[in-house]
Amino acid sequence: MSDVNLSVKIGSLELKNPVMLASGTVGYGEEISRIVDLTQVGAIITKSISLEPRKGNPPERIWETSSGMLNAIGLANIGLKRFVDEKIPFLEKINTTVICNIAASSFDEYAECVKSLKDIETIKAFEINVSCPNVKDGGLLFGNDINAVREITSLLRPITDKPLIIKLSPNTASIKDFAQAVKEEGADAVSAINTLVGTAFNIYTRKPRIKNITGGLSGPAIKPVALAKVLEISRDVDIPVIGVGGISSWEDAAEFIIAGASAVQIGTANFVNPKISEEVIEGLRSYCTAMNISDINDLVASYTL
Ligand SMILES: Cc1cc2nc3c(=O)[nH]c(=O)nc-3n(C[C@H](O)[C@H](O)[C@H](O)COP(=O)(O)O)c2cc1C
Repeated sequence: MSDVNLSVKIGSLELKNPVMLASGTVGYGEEISRIVDLTQVGAIITKSISLEPRKGNPPERIWETSSGMLNAIGLANIGLKRFVDEKIPFLEKINTTVICNIAASSFDEYAECVKSLKDIETIKAFEINVSCPNVKDGGLLFGNDINAVREITSLLRPITDKPLIIKLSPNTASIKDFAQAVKEEGADAVSAINTLVGTAFNIYTRKPRIKNITGGLSGPAIKPVALAKVLEISRDVDIPVIGVGGISSWEDAAEFIIAGASAVQIGTANFVNPKISEEVIEGLRSYCTAMNISDINDLVASYTL
């Protein structure tokens, strides 16, 4: 069987395959476009954008850990105006699906961002980051508060017809309750998960490795946690889940899809092997062929417990 259908639908969003590039790990696509043929990926999710530019946290902002990394970038970004003026023209030219990730420090700021960007043709969907663990005045507070996450979703839903994907935090007691809440407010999908709060110390100076003290843990180290969160949502809530967390191979991607993910995102692995997304797409295609699966959608939540 050579013609495996890899295309998936997330709400009204059609993707040529389920493999996306995760927010914050490929900037706005320019650098990685020199290495990866972006027309081949399911979608690129741009770095979180806020209304005004953000410098982010002071260095050190990154620390490599066993099978992963800690980051406390603090949502450094060029701000909405420069994003529109300088990045959209490039994104317009590349023939791929662009999902715009938004972060904010207030409900009004989320709404302002979506209002300003909703008519840009190139942006096919919004991913709302309510869950960044590295900013004191923003995402973390929202991400841990189910009423805030519910309110942000209900505020944004009437502003745009474009698919609304809410990116959930794993740093909560029950991620499925958050998924249920955003579904009730009209979200089209959830992304699970953002990074887990972690830290590391230098034993000689006895200081944290990260100036912000804590950072977000990502990479293979978090894969089992992310898989469990995807499974938790998919078992209880009828909403498409985009699985993200530690995916570094096509086997990892297949595992997420079996656990209930309709699509996946690759983050930290891009830093190790920038061509990983292409390899994952080809690996999934070969796997489906070998397993006699003609449509990847048949693999979604196909686990037996
Ligand atoms: C350096 C770095 C920066 C990130 N920046 C963002 C961001 O701006 N917005 C966001 O929603 N997630 C951000 N993330 C989280 C990733 O998109 C992803 O959810 C997380 O890293 C888990 O996936 P992974 O293990 O494949 O990296 C960032 C992750 C890393 C490592």
